[in-house]
Amino acid sequence: MKTAFVSGITGQDGSYLAEFLLHKGYFVVGLKRRTSLICTERVNNFYDNPNFKMEYWDLNDASATYRLLLKYKPDEFYNLAAQSHVRVSFDVPQDTLVGIAVGTHTILEAIGNVHPECRFYQASSSEMFGDNPDVPEKGFNENSRLMPASPYACAKVCAHNLVRNYRSSYRLHASSGILFNHESPRRGETFVTRKITLAAANIRLGHQDKIELGNLSAKRDWGHSKDYVKAMWLMLQQDIPDDYVIATGETYSVKDFLDETWKVADLGEPEKHLIINPKYFRPHEVPYLLGDSTRARKVLGWSPRYNFSSLAEDMYMSDFNHLVSTKGWK
Ligand code: NAP
Ligand code: GDD
Repeated sequence: MKTAFVSGITGQDGSYLAEFLLHKGYFVVGLKRRTSLICTERVNNFYDNPNFKMEYWDLNDASATYRLLLKYKPDEFYNLAAQSHVRVSFDVPQDTLVGIAVGTHTILEAIGNVHPECRFYQASSSEMFGDNPDVPEKGFNENSRLMPASPYACAKVCAHNLVRNYRSSYRLHASSGILFNHESPRRGETFVTRKITLAAANIRLGHQDKIELGNLSAKRDWGHSKDYVKAMWLMLQQDIPDDYVIATGETYSVKDFLDETWKVADLGEPEKHLIINPKYFRPHEVPYLLGDSTRARKVLGWSPRYNFSSLAEDMYMSDFNHLVSTKGWK
């Protein structure tokens, strides 16, 4: 039985990845930081699985990283932990930078020193391409220029380069997935897609009237988290570690996602519920993201099952059904 570490276990991707690995027969160790409220909502459905164990850990705690590596000697380490909100990274830049850049470095050093057989996955991001205006026709690929436009993206570029550096310097089996935006019913409620689907469900049920948003013209390549965690696993099953773009190859604006969700919810024109609030604009925006995942499709045999419409529908229906079943609204 293989053992996998999943940091960021309480997050969107961590929870889907752990389910995927448990299903594959892994023993999964979830790495969780201490929080004042118990935030295990996303992992409750497998928390009691005998092949799952939660351990306290923090990106900023080297001692815990070394101790747990020596205790479990995992086969694979998926590093998904991060302060992952781009807008918030302008408010807490140092916390974001130290956690992502120094935290990733700590894990690479620890693996190299005490357990070099462990395969490592780093959660790199399409935000690293930032406001690069030179988008190839098929989208950004593994060789496109990185022009990060936020403290979050700068930190991810540093961690991404560290992975490449440790891979070539110390022959570690370390890979980065350059994942474009991926969403799901488990997406945090302050990311734009979830904010939209939750608002639509509340409006549909008569418990909200308006939604406040910022820049509607930004375009993103939006996929489903369930599809993307499979790509993480596939990367660590390869003989040769590498970096891979994971994306759908289609890009839509925030306004497109709003329109699609309003259509699924049968709410008429979104404009009658919409308020544009400047507080949701960013000091430095990433205007356009489109990914070219040719390498992943060829080498990993990966392809997504969800598209833009089925993603919006899955998220809206989940929010709607959850409100109906938990609040009794009709
Ligand atoms: P998420 O839902 O925000 O989850 C982030 C996880 O990291 C949470 O479990 C959080 O714990 C944990 N965390 C934050 N700071 C930590 C620290 N100092 N020590 C230990 N754990 C910490 O993010 P996600 O959407 O699942 O994304 C997973 C990873 O992929 C992140 O690294 C993100 O930057 C990256 N990524 C995401 C996307 C995307 O579109 N979703 C795209 C590219 C890359 P709490 O629950 O306690 O907050
Ligand atoms: N969050 C948010 N809230 N974004 C808004 C809003 C709003 O009210 N109104 C408009 N937007 C716009 C943002 O300006 C941005 O252009 C776009 O919606 C998407 O914002 P987010 O959903 O916050 O995601 P993100 O693209 O900034 O970052 C996500 O994807 C990255 C991959 O490209 C995060 O998951 C990152 O962790 C991830 O690396």
